[in-house]
Amino acid sequence: MTLLEKIVALSKRRGFIFPGSEIYGGLGGTWDYGPLGVELKNNIKREFWKSMVYERNDVVGIDAAILMNPKVWEASGHVEAFADPLVECKICHERFRADQPEEIQKHESTHKGKKPEWTESRKFNLLVEAKLGVVEDKKDKVYLRGEITQGVHVNFKNVLDSTRVQIPFGIAQIGKAFRNEITPGNFTFRSREFEQMELQFYVKPEKGESQKWYEYWKAERMKWYLSFGMDKKKLRFRQHEEGERAHYAKDAWDIEYDSPFGWKEFEGIHNRGDWDLSQHQKHSGVDMSYTDQESGKKFLPYIVETSGGVDRAALFFLINAYFEDKDPSASSGQGRVVLKLHPKLAPFKVAVFPLLANKPELVKKARSIYQLLTASYQLSPIAWDDRGNIGKRYFAQDEIGTPYCVTVDFQTLDDDTVTIRDRDTTKQERVKVKRLSELLSNKLSD
Ligand code: GAP
Repeated sequence: MTLLEKIVALSKRRGFIFPGSEIYGGLGGTWDYGPLGVELKNNIKREFWKSMVYERNDVVGIDAAILMNPKVWEASGHVEAFADPLVECKICHERFRADQPEEIQKHESTHKGKKPEWTESRKFNLLVEAKLGVVEDKKDKVYLRGEITQGVHVNFKNVLDSTRVQIPFGIAQIGKAFRNEITPGNFTFRSREFEQMELQFYVKPEKGESQKWYEYWKAERMKWYLSFGMDKKKLRFRQHEEGERAHYAKDAWDIEYDSPFGWKEFEGIHNRGDWDLSQHQKHSGVDMSYTDQESGKKFLPYIVETSGGVDRAALFFLINAYFEDKDPSASSGQGRVVLKLHPKLAPFKVAVFPLLANKPELVKKARSIYQLLTASYQLSPIAWDDRGNIGKRYFAQDEIGTPYCVTVDFQTLDDDTVTIRDRDTTKQERVKVKRLSELLSNKLSD
């Protein structure tokens, strides 16, 4: 099994990620997050929001509608230019991206010996269309947003008028985006429905100023991924080449991960110049300029954008955390799978076990500790397991990344102590129940 196959299997088996609408044969490029996947994704989004909004005084948040007036997408250039080059195999009529030669080669090899001819490359627009309205033949065409970004820019004036922000400042947003990808694939990596976490940072329209903030945000975003345990050797920046940049970008650098399917982008940092505000000003007729409070000068700000994919981050955090090793504490050196997720991202922070499920006094005590910890960690669930033997329970928690397991045993009933077992070292320490919450909080906040 390849590493990606192992991650796909683990995701299904333990409830991280399921194929979308699976019982009906699925729907290409859609995925459903299970009980553990939703926790992982929520943790990523919560940490993003904490560091980008709560811990700064120059960024505010927004949550704009997915459906927008279609004029937005004409103004933003997406109707015209948000497209990939598409070619069609003349033998089986399957369609591929012309700019992905590996995919084309892979497909050609499926026609055993018969080299297919391909149609001329043509532009294929990625916006997903929907119909809105209650009268059948008068329904209006709308688009599901192709990037979450435009919901921020069309609200630039609303945010200015309703808050005390002053340039330089940013607006952060997290939400779903939709793209009619020609070839979804590599698990969730290229999906047709996915989530983005973005910052649009408005600065004075001067080259030096926007460059300074561009470098600042590049460094901040890389630091953020490193702070949650991504392996430094597996991360790099890559600048887009001249013909590769999106229509709105003056400059674009991707943060890439060395994945099982090659170096792949999971966050883009873009200098959008004044593209968005000037286009919306032109198409809506609304003045989108900012007036500097000190000099009284009016200008259209430049925008530095950081645009990350929540699903790609979740996938690369899973891949980055996946280890197969021998349990150092077992004399047999039994093999185990362990997800060394950063504690802040792990779906469960702690699991609680009674040593034996058929001893009511152990179960009762363990339940009371479970409730105590649940009350102290309201932002994340506590796991409970009383099935099978204790070693199997530890391994089951290792496999989903739970950093600590607390076991209630017979000694607990004598001296009110429990063991805490560490996922990564598998070492156990015995601590007083009354110190448990504080101790775990300290460990988890490291
Ligand atoms: N607002 C700018 C923007 O949308 P992008 O580079 O097209 O820029 C940003 O997308 C991020 O969104 C990507 O780095 C990736 O993480 C995520 N993303 C884009 N297309 C995706 C897809 N089809 N499936 C999953 N994630 C995707």
